Amino acid sequence: MLYSEEKIKAALGDHRDTVKIIIDDVTASTNDKGKAIAATGESKNTLILAYRQHKGKGRMGRSFFSPEGGIYMSLVIPKTGLDPEDIPLITPAAAVAVCRAIESLTPAEPKIKWVNDIFCNGGKAAGILTETVFSSEDFFSVVGIGINLIPPKGGFPAELNGIASSVYGKGEEIPQDIMSILAGTVTRELLDLTVTIPERGFSEEYRRRSFVIGKDARVIKNGIPTEAHIVDIDKNCRLGVIYRDGNEEYLLCGEISLSF
Ligand code: BTN
Repeated sequence: MLYSEEKIKAALGDHRDTVKIIIDDVTASTNDKGKAIAATGESKNTLILAYRQHKGKGRMGRSFFSPEGGIYMSLVIPKTGLDPEDIPLITPAAAVAVCRAIESLTPAEPKIKWVNDIFCNGGKAAGILTETVFSSEDFFSVVGIGINLIPPKGGFPAELNGIASSVYGKGEEIPQDIMSILAGTVTRELLDLTVTIPERGFSEEYRRRSFVIGKDARVIKNGIPTEAHIVDIDKNCRLGVIYRDGNEEYLLCGEISLSF
């Protein structure tokens, strides 16, 4: 499976001329490369793709397993024009973009686990890590997305067993150019959704695509887990929880672990 710049551009639609594309065989982390590009003050949207990462980064300082067979992409968006308090909404916007692309192009039925995980086929098949870079008196968003497209040769590492999954299952037919078309489609959807952030244009869709409401979970804050019941996701994509002691809270960011 190889990327084709032409196919990516076709999937970008109206954005085809506004996105610079970089395709690497292997890189440490497409997000780190994106941050270096942002630091130069690059004025164009830049999409960085790699077939493999040897220091793929996840949220909370974790690593992201990035062997061949996955899509590892970072979109550098200069001058989003967003108010600083709206920046956290880029991650939910990206989650919706990934779901739309997977749903329209593959047989998988993607669902969102707040805040940044995409589940397919019973496990986590994609994750999002958004980073912000301040440069030229403005801020750049670097939206990193990792999608496990097919099961990795040799399987997932033991620590991801029972957690990770992929968009396509073992033996499923993989359409030609799916990597390019998915990467281009996610980028197009994300650029379209980013401009709707001020009016929360996608939060209803984010809520609808989420599978956590009504479930019991452990809310992890500063490394400390607390049992809670998930009751809502509001228009700011904040997670509404009720703790065992009856206290309620709306979380803008953080992490939950579900008791399935
Ligand atoms: C998470 O699930 O915790 C977030 C995972 C984000 C992984 C992607 S892969 C492309 C980009 N480069 C990185 O180093 N990380 C993100």
